[in-house]
Amino acid sequence: MEFKNLVVEVENNIAVVTVNRPEKLNALNNETIEELDEVFSQLNENEDVYVIILTGSGDKAFVAGADISELNNLDEQKAKMFSEKGQKVFSRIEKMEKPVIAAVNGYALGGGCEIALACNIRLASDNAVFGQPEVNLGIIPGYGGTQRLTKLINSGRAAQYILTGDMINAEEALRIGLVNKVYPQAELMIKAKEMGKKICSKGQFAVRMAMKAINIVGEVSGTEGQNYEASVFALCCGTDDFKEGTSAFLEKRKPIFKNN
Ligand code: COA
Repeated sequence: MEFKNLVVEVENNIAVVTVNRPEKLNALNNETIEELDEVFSQLNENEDVYVIILTGSGDKAFVAGADISELNNLDEQKAKMFSEKGQKVFSRIEKMEKPVIAAVNGYALGGGCEIALACNIRLASDNAVFGQPEVNLGIIPGYGGTQRLTKLINSGRAAQYILTGDMINAEEALRIGLVNKVYPQAELMIKAKEMGKKICSKGQFAVRMAMKAINIVGEVSGTEGQNYEASVFALCCGTDDFKEGTSAFLEKRKPIFKNN
């Protein structure tokens, strides 16, 4: 897969997608947004890929936001399309059938924080800095940040960060539940791949069904969500992997999943 602003590597069923504009702290210009749309669409279809890790190039930034030089040219009409386009791409990431882990290796500001929020799991390096500083530019988050941040860290905290534009360091991000874990920077990718490998070692049918059940939260009522969970739970129980997993436990051995 060849892209101008992304590097994509697939190894041992794990795809690593690296936003690669280090001279602009990996800011998301329109071209990069389009490439992200394309790569996540391809990876969703790629049967060899079980888990995706999203990170940024270099040791300073994950993604420092939307590209402000492009933002500067927006008028009201273009801005609506700009926002909707980014929202669509980030929703694609959020609704992937495979888990997406953000390995946040530095600044995750504006659109950078928003793309991390669209991932299922957020791991951060100890130098990571999160924030929604759009208010400093006279705008608000436009790639889903007002919705996802509020859902993840509660409305009072989200309002505080969105209205002040204050930065959130890694320690604070961990405390408020914005990230799952924090690691020394040199260990971040190792730990992200370890987590990816662990997920890859499970029965992939069950992983996909879990993703489907997680992904409908907020789309349907609580009762419908429970009903859906019961139906995909039942589908899992029809698989060879289910027989293997339960038998292996009872026989005190490790399961060998065949993903069917
Ligand atoms: N859009 C476009 N370019 C960006 C950018 C963005 N969001 N963030 C950083 N860059 C560019 C800078 O313009 C600079 O380019 P230049 O060398 O051609 O001048 C380069 O990346 C390095 O950034 P710089 O500001 O010199 O690094 P720093 O270490 O002094 O500061 C930040 C780092 C992240 C604090 C600062 O770059 C920043 O505030 N960026 C904007 C963050 C933001 O508001 N994001 C939300 C946008 S909606």
